[in-house]
Amino acid sequence: MINIRELRQKDPIKRNVEKDLEQVENSPMDPPEAYAESTVEKVPYEKMPKHIQELMDEHNAAKLKLNDFEKALTQFKEQGYKLDNEINRIFTEFFEFFDNNLLEHNYKEERKLFPLLTEKLITAGEHSNGPEKHTAVDIMEDDHVKFIQLGSLTFNLIGLATRLKDFESRMVTFDFAYETGRELIELLRLHIFREDETIFPLAYKLISEEEFKSLEK
Ligand SMILES: [Fe+2]
Ligand SMILES: [Fe+2]
Repeated sequence: MINIRELRQKDPIKRNVEKDLEQVENSPMDPPEAYAESTVEKVPYEKMPKHIQELMDEHNAAKLKLNDFEKALTQFKEQGYKLDNEINRIFTEFFEFFDNNLLEHNYKEERKLFPLLTEKLITAGEHSNGPEKHTAVDIMEDDHVKFIQLGSLTFNLIGLATRLKDFESRMVTFDFAYETGRELIELLRLHIFREDETIFPLAYKLISEEEFKSLEK
């Protein structure tokens, strides 16, 4: 059984978001325990139903975009927050991908896989105890909300900083945008890891072939 409370406590990003961004003790860039191997049995990609394979393909595409965005963001900071054409292009591409592909992917999960999986998890007793039955799917849905917050914050801070005339205010705002962007990158990576390693194998275990077929419609 996956321990939801543990998953919540072990979420380094959630802990950090709750703190002042300037005073992060445990860097979200280095969450040692968060990437611990899943307790759910691995399922090879080839064995996964088509619906899950598509979601995994979309994760792979997102990981590539994240790598590009991370490189550009690091370079941007290293060159004293000078926005050149190349960095501008990568930032624009990333936020376009974020709006057009990533949010659509999350919506697909929320509309199709997650409701059915929640039902299955509750039936299987894989939920928290207490008046409300929480499952691992709730954590994934919370993440989806955080992506929107962090994504729009990063985007808006970059936009704001470029319009600031005062050098110091501009640098402080870019710094804040940088931190928020890093946090978004790490949260997205961890989220993809958890879906690929825990949520999708759980879905494979609990959802029948016919039920998956009905999700594909
Ligand atoms: Fe997701
Ligand atoms: Fe996903």
